[in-house]
Amino acid sequence: MHAVMLRHEALPTHPPTPTLPLPITVRAQEIPYPLPDNEEEDRRRLDAGHYALQAYLGGNYIAPLHKLRPGAILDLGTGSGIWALEMAAEFPDAKVLGVDMLPVVARHAPPNCAFEVVNLAQEWPFPPQAFDVIHSRFCLVHLPNAREILVSALASLRPGGLLLLEEGTNALFSRSPDEIPAGIKRFYELYSGIMRARGVDGEVGPKMLDWIRESGACEEVHERILEPPMQPFTKDDSLNCLGEVLKQFLIKGYASMIPRLEGEGVTRDIVDGFVEGVSDPTKKVRGRLNWVWARKKVD
Ligand SMILES: C[S@@+](CC[C@H](N)C(=O)[O-])C[C@H]1O[C@@H](n2cnc3c(N)ncnc32)[C@H](O)[C@@H]1O
Repeated sequence: MHAVMLRHEALPTHPPTPTLPLPITVRAQEIPYPLPDNEEEDRRRLDAGHYALQAYLGGNYIAPLHKLRPGAILDLGTGSGIWALEMAAEFPDAKVLGVDMLPVVARHAPPNCAFEVVNLAQEWPFPPQAFDVIHSRFCLVHLPNAREILVSALASLRPGGLLLLEEGTNALFSRSPDEIPAGIKRFYELYSGIMRARGVDGEVGPKMLDWIRESGACEEVHERILEPPMQPFTKDDSLNCLGEVLKQFLIKGYASMIPRLEGEGVTRDIVDGFVEGVSDPTKKVRGRLNWVWARKKVD
């Protein structure tokens, strides 16, 4: 099989980063994720989400990566590639590979960062024990094989390597359930049903901790749950700011899916109902994000 080498193989000191098969041709009908209607706008949406999370968390990750001194880092469902680019800048001695079913729009990639097209719903092209860090943010929640990907990722980590999984759930929450506006409930009933019919489990975020424990592959696993509010009602202003960005992230993301999902009932009216719900200042509605990291056993 033809192989695509990472650019800049001449980088010194690190174990070889794996090669990948040639990019596959992505056929939208084979992928559950509803593609955004405007890639450039979607890139800006993803970048805004990245920087809001980075500001809130005080960095690109919550795991002790510096102690590990990673040589090879993989980002699954890299989107705009922003996390991979930031990691390449933060760890100039590491090689960073971002993969996505869509090609990453050319950006100012430093020499130690590369992007490849991979359909994770169909293939896991990475060899065992190839990476020190494997990261996925808001990607597993779109895949029909999220648990298999998690197990494959653990196999492709070197002993002592770190798995960083940052996902959510296809839902919004409230401490009192009748506070969720009807427009939000209606949207998620429809959207979750469509994704379920495509084989996608929208509840991946809260399950990852157990999946990692049950794999028996890790010597430690940690979880931090973030609950950004859709209105600024918490006492934590930085969390309120994260919530505002997340709200826009969701509104723009769902609106951009209308052309692909309209035939299945996700109309402008349904998305407007969601927007009205998250914009209601009298309701205490929150997102819920599961930030999980785990260290692979050394033996
Ligand atoms: C919500 S975006 C998150 C992007 C990025 N991880 C971030 O946090 O900014 C989800 C990404 O997963 C990618 N994706 C969805 N299904 C995929 C698949 N089957 N294989 C590879 N990538 C996929 C999408 O193309 C999209 O870029």
